[in-house]
Amino acid sequence: MADVSLQPKHFLSDKVEHFTESVIREMTRQAMLYGAVNLAQGFPDFPAPAEIKHAAQEAIAHDVNQYAITWGAKNLRNAIARQMKLWQGISVDPETQVTVCCGSTETMISTLLAVCNRGDEVVIFEPFYENYGPDSILSGAKPVFVKLRPPAAADGEWSFDEHELRAAFHAHTKAIILNTPNNPTGKVFTRAELELIRDLCVEFNVLAVTDEIYEHIIYDGTEHISMASLPGMEDRTVTINGLSKTYSVTGWRVGWAVAPPHVTNAIRKVHDFLTVGAPAPLQEAGAAALSLPPSYYHSLATAYCARRDRLLPALTEAGFHCFKPRGAYYVMTDISAFGFADDVAFTKYLVKEIGVAAVPGSSFYNDPRDGARQVRFAFCKRADTLDAAARKLMTLRPK
Ligand SMILES: Cc1ncc(COP(=O)(O)O)c(C=O)c1O
Repeated sequence: MADVSLQPKHFLSDKVEHFTESVIREMTRQAMLYGAVNLAQGFPDFPAPAEIKHAAQEAIAHDVNQYAITWGAKNLRNAIARQMKLWQGISVDPETQVTVCCGSTETMISTLLAVCNRGDEVVIFEPFYENYGPDSILSGAKPVFVKLRPPAAADGEWSFDEHELRAAFHAHTKAIILNTPNNPTGKVFTRAELELIRDLCVEFNVLAVTDEIYEHIIYDGTEHISMASLPGMEDRTVTINGLSKTYSVTGWRVGWAVAPPHVTNAIRKVHDFLTVGAPAPLQEAGAAALSLPPSYYHSLATAYCARRDRLLPALTEAGFHCFKPRGAYYVMTDISAFGFADDVAFTKYLVKEIGVAAVPGSSFYNDPRDGARQVRFAFCKRADTLDAAARKLMTLRPK
């Protein structure tokens, strides 16, 4: 008789041992459990544009219901190429340079699986969107973290130390993941910062993998610059984007990578065997979304700016120290005034006793201690949701 004493753990991959479940998604479950206002996960609670919902319904009614071309429906790839030219002046061949995946989440992991070998290193600015750590580990690479430091002045910007960044680059560095506009800090990388990163990528022969999913959500006259538009980066950048944030359809799961043809080939292979393809009718609706007029993007940014300016004063009044975001739809805060042991204890209290869900800062850092005084709030919500959260937050007592 075979040995029946093997523990279930025996079946698990070592890779999975190296990371935990998503804290952000866990906070959403807690918000539901306690009936709290959910300012944790970054999904809008307002409707998606009527035109694009109609386009999705039409696509289904017209029987666009079978597999699309595995690397993306032609209409959507053409629209992506058109948008890259329009917004960033980048010429893209939709036949050889675009891969459509199931959200930018799948796009990121497909990209890293396509380019990383065991022993490679991937540079990541921290705090970072929590998927990047597990993405690197699953692809066999070692994440190397470089700190973004919070601004000292109320109106200042998050910044990094040039020497610290240089020290992270060496012979084994395969890629740098760059998220601009940034989640969770709201930082929008400047041209000078991007040029500095570009110079290191060229010097060390490193690929830039950029997550630009908040491209159109920017404030205070800041400009979103795609790394691929910088001289010297066209052939060493994978630009990742998606429908989720720009069109308020996080549940549709449509994202894409724009990359040089040989990298695209590799991404397409991984994507094909991972998921075959993104939802066909929603890709057609995506093509319609990307054909909305420029005024759509202007209104999107204006509406998000109003939401930011609604939540920030409420958080400040409640006792949080806020780091003002220049882009994306989150605000990182310092919770020192409340005298809690750490961010996790604070967010547990916040969701259960105050009725507001937020994300503990530690989930955005490799070493949880680095985020122990920080908490992130999402403001991609209706005015009445933000007001309900503000009323609850007023019952908090700074020590
Ligand atoms: C920086 C960043 N990238 C990617 C995603 C996920 O995007 P998608 O819905 O396209 O998978 C998020 C969602 O919060 C995000 O903040």
